[in-house]
Amino acid sequence: MGVMSYIGEQFHKPTGLGGKLATFVMNRQNWRQYAGAEAALNLVGTESVLDIGFGNGYLLGRLAGRYDCCFYGVDISPDMLQTATKRNRKSIDSGKMCLSLGSAEKTGLESDSIDKAYTVNTVYFWSSLDAGLADIWRILKPGRVLALRLKRARLSRAGRIA
Ligand SMILES: C[S@@+](CC[C@H](N)C(=O)[O-])C[C@H]1O[C@@H](n2cnc3c(N)ncnc32)[C@H](O)[C@@H]1O
Repeated sequence: MGVMSYIGEQFHKPTGLGGKLATFVMNRQNWRQYAGAEAALNLVGTESVLDIGFGNGYLLGRLAGRYDCCFYGVDISPDMLQTATKRNRKSIDSGKMCLSLGSAEKTGLESDSIDKAYTVNTVYFWSSLDAGLADIWRILKPGRVLALRLKRARLSRAGRIA
């Protein structure tokens, strides 16, 4: 594997030391997307909130420190699950956060179980945009809110989808 494809892979499915470094860099570069997602979600009360592709769990940790919501996360990378679990140990142990392996296309969560979902810089990596949106639609409760934050160009959008 060439250097460029190795680096690209660390953003798609971070693993090992390269994955840790790539996600550390993301945390510094993505502050606009993080702030945008937080503003769009308008979190209140004890809503259930899902992060799709949580990476090293930085944004989940930040939100869990600010809001009383119940946080969920799915990511395709076993290494990121391990890193994010370590970072958010306290919230997980107290039952405030639940992280698992899963994808946008197959979250593995129950239908109508989540109030609000967000994803930051992951949609370019989904195997199918249709399948991802369909499964997110399935798990969101009526009145659902999905915040999609993208880095490239001016594609950042956040919206209510029902
Ligand atoms: C560029 S990183 C973004 C991480 C985090 N959202 C952030 O902004 O700090 C992409 C993350 O999405 C995960 N990912 C890639 N494809 C995915 C998919 N189809 N469903 C869920 N997560 C996915 C990767 O494992 C990685 O942790």
